[in-house]
Amino acid sequence: MKRIAGGLAALAVAACFLACRTEPEPAPESVVRQENPVAASGQVLDRAREDYRRDCSECHGAGGKGDGPTSGMLRKAPADLTDPAILAAVTDGEIYWIVTRGYRPLMPAFEGKLSEEQRWGLVRLMRKMSNTQPNSSPRSTH
Ligand code: HEC
Repeated sequence: MKRIAGGLAALAVAACFLACRTEPEPAPESVVRQENPVAASGQVLDRAREDYRRDCSECHGAGGKGDGPTSGMLRKAPADLTDPAILAAVTDGEIYWIVTRGYRPLMPAFEGKLSEEQRWGLVRLMRKMSNTQPNSSPRSTH
């Protein structure tokens, strides 16, 4: 009985180690350095704004400031996507990977919901919101 309880506790710790960390999953090297395959065209940005309003604004806020209606319920505030200091420190590929795989457990993954093209379009939108350029030195090597 004692052994079972110990086993369960170890399992809970292991599960929390996997599910409770709030670091984004590091992007694979090939993605970190990948150039954004979609252009910053009006059409791409319009679609990204629509996707953003539907899927991101509840947490990150209508204007991207990290102040959406559900932001106060989270253990950690959603990132201010208009902050150049945050966005200038990551490559397009790293942003793409966060949107793709999420920022567990607080931010969901969008790979099953948005196409690759839509996710890269959101990267273009975040570059615009934060007024930053794609960065060539990834955060993963800082
Ligand atoms: C359920 C709430 C929630 C939703 C929905 C959500 N996010 Fe997040 N997001 C977060 C939280 C919390 C963080 C982590 C904050 C931190 O530590 O910087 C985060 C982090 C990020 C980051 C990382 C910023 C950095 O530190 O590099 C990006 C980029 C991002 N979100 C973009 C998006 C986009 C784009 C969408 C919509 C497709 C979205 N998020 C949807 C809550 C959310």
